[in-house]
Amino acid sequence: MKQRQTARSVSARKGGEKIVMLTAYDYPSARMAEDAGADILLVGDSLAMVVLGHPDTLSVTVEEMVHHCKAVSRGAQRALVVGDLPFLSYEAGPTQALESAGRLVKEGGVRAVKLEGGREVLPQVDALLAAGIPVMGHVGLTPQRLARLGGFRVQGRDAATAQAILDDAVALSRAGCFAVVLECVPAALARVITAVLEAPTIGIGAGPQCDGQVLVFHDVLGIHEGIRPSFVKRYAELGATGREALTAYAAEVRQGRFPGPEQVFSMEEQHLEGLTVDGRPARSYLREPAA
Ligand code: KIV
Repeated sequence: MKQRQTARSVSARKGGEKIVMLTAYDYPSARMAEDAGADILLVGDSLAMVVLGHPDTLSVTVEEMVHHCKAVSRGAQRALVVGDLPFLSYEAGPTQALESAGRLVKEGGVRAVKLEGGREVLPQVDALLAAGIPVMGHVGLTPQRLARLGGFRVQGRDAATAQAILDDAVALSRAGCFAVVLECVPAALARVITAVLEAPTIGIGAGPQCDGQVLVFHDVLGIHEGIRPSFVKRYAELGATGREALTAYAAEVRQGRFPGPEQVFSMEEQHLEGLTVDGRPARSYLREPAA
């Protein structure tokens, strides 16, 4: 078995073997992702959309994140489990960030947290690191600020916004974040940021030159039916396969073909003989099978 991943071991992979991160939201997704070789399991706030059916990530609560972090932590034996701090669970300042992150760590069992934002969240990053909680940064497209960013769109395409993203990423790395997610930025910008930063970069829609990549579990497996960003590669169509299987099950139930002989338990006839209801043999209630 490979060595257990920590924030420190992930950091040390800068420029080396690519870091593989996948989101996971429960025990089976954690087991599957880890068995597939993921180094980091992110209990992302994308939970809101792909598992809980919300239109965006804004409504997921710390309580809900804790619940799912617990399940993922139970499934992870080797991967580093990172919990996402949801919208408005850290923006008020370091005290709020510590309270929220503390719950994900103490109750949810995660070993690091991720928060969205750049220089404006440095006080929160400092407080978390001072408390011994490793922090992953997240810049570029930050879905918790979708309203301000004007929707799901590539960030940093002009000089001013590219400089701002670079400055944010540098600040997070210098503050001590063990890794920084770059979401939806041009590949050329991600390449520069990756070269500049001491911390590894983990890209999603940020090209191949990041130190690692992350995708949403349901996107990789083709389960999620919602938005299909162009940077996502679906490696399977389990949504379609699953629907076919469930449709076959429903048809077999209606046709009386499930359960079949392999799925039933037997008992000795004699034990049925003596069963009664109001003194009447229970077997007499049986209707003869139709001819
Ligand atoms: O919540 C999430 O899934 C994320 C990843 C896309 C990085 O933040």
